[in-house]
Amino acid sequence: MPDTLTITDNRTGRKYEIPVENDSIRALDLRQIKVKDDDFGLLSYDPAFLNTASCRSSITYIDGEKGILRYRGYPVEQLADGSNFLETSFLILNGELPNQKEYDDWVHSITYHTLIHENIKKLMDGFHYDAHPMGMLISTVAALSTFYKDAKDIHNAEWRRKQTHRLIGKLPTIAAFAFRHSVGQPYVYPDNELSYTANFMSMLWKMTEVQYKPDPVLVRAMDVLFILHADHEQNCSANAMRSVGSSHVDPYSALAAAAAALYGPLHGGANEQVLRMLDQIGSKDHVPAFIERVKAGEGRLMGFGHRVYKNYDPRAKIIKQLADEVFTVTGRNPKLDIALELERIALEDDYFVSRKLYPNVDFYSGLIYQAMGFPVEMFPVLFSIPRAVGWIAQWEEMLLDSEQKIARPRQIYLGEEKRDYVSIKKRSA
Ligand code: CMC
Repeated sequence: MPDTLTITDNRTGRKYEIPVENDSIRALDLRQIKVKDDDFGLLSYDPAFLNTASCRSSITYIDGEKGILRYRGYPVEQLADGSNFLETSFLILNGELPNQKEYDDWVHSITYHTLIHENIKKLMDGFHYDAHPMGMLISTVAALSTFYKDAKDIHNAEWRRKQTHRLIGKLPTIAAFAFRHSVGQPYVYPDNELSYTANFMSMLWKMTEVQYKPDPVLVRAMDVLFILHADHEQNCSANAMRSVGSSHVDPYSALAAAAAALYGPLHGGANEQVLRMLDQIGSKDHVPAFIERVKAGEGRLMGFGHRVYKNYDPRAKIIKQLADEVFTVTGRNPKLDIALELERIALEDDYFVSRKLYPNVDFYSGLIYQAMGFPVEMFPVLFSIPRAVGWIAQWEEMLLDSEQKIARPRQIYLGEEKRDYVSIKKRSA
């Protein structure tokens, strides 16, 4: 059987045969379908990209129906179990797991790009004391582009690698400085003796001790959380990174745009909203009434539902187990009982079952972050650090894809026909 699609245009009676490749047709093949020769041609209308593939990608595979997530073919569960964040980052960016030498060089390159220019520190000092740390992160990442003029040279693979080292190395420093600024504490410089996540914790929480010694259970937990957040194919922020990057702007500016997309409550801001929701619910016995309000359309059950997953988010499963390990060190987050009750009731309720709404990555991650001592404002910041790896991988894949051009969707214009300008004096009241 031919891999084609036959379309009959009932407006004209004409038939068209369109190639089908990878279970998809090229939207541009629809353009030949016209009623009159001077028509523009048929467009596909797809607000929010519900059924449009904007690229071909080899980075992350998701099967939303089955709850599968793989980076470069490796199941995320196996990476969470056996890998660490920097090794997984190498995999995501390069397509293969590193050998020992590649791994050591990679860790060294990232570790030696953790310091930020003193003027960036001054820039961060300029923020108001109660500035949201995510706003600080977005602006500071954008500002980095003014410090690295060579970042504009995006067609040079060696330079791209250098910007990648800088971005992955410096993001934890910027994130930790934003946190210290918000609590009025002096900045802590990176400690290159520590691992990526241990150094991040040191910059967050070191006080007067000579070397900060984070609890290994918490270091591992943060590493696993970073692995789980490293990429998620064409989500809102990855799409922002690709779309803004398609203008060939430098990666700092594109990454700031991606981080801004992540800031929104429907994307990376959701775990902040989960905690606020749990606070608002207050106790386990208020859960049924809250669920009723959600079903009546008075707000959403934050941390539930996903555009792609129509099954339990595999990341949420790992995070739920991780929470138990973290709570043995930090003490149990009392909100866990409310969350477990919400999940129990929602998963039995026809409203959620029929819409295939399951807990997503954000449902339990906030509880862990809060138990570790993070204020809710830091949650999207904690999401941005690992996701930067995915953004950079998506950006580079886009740049190297000969089919990609500047992103520029079409529209269906439904506004006024041509009309003549009327001066303000002649307009009716
Ligand atoms: N609570 C209650 N109802 C919901 C929820 C929810 N969390 N999510 C979806 N629905 C309902 C929605 O009202 C709609 O019902 P109906 O068909 O009766 O109108 C139906 O389910 C389909 O929803 P949708 O808004 O068309 O789905 P979407 O794919 O556009 O939205 C989503 C996906 C993640 C934005 C949405 O599920 C949501 O708002 N969830 C809460 C926010 C959240 O947890 N976001 C984190 C996403 S995971 C992390 C990330 O990728 O950044």
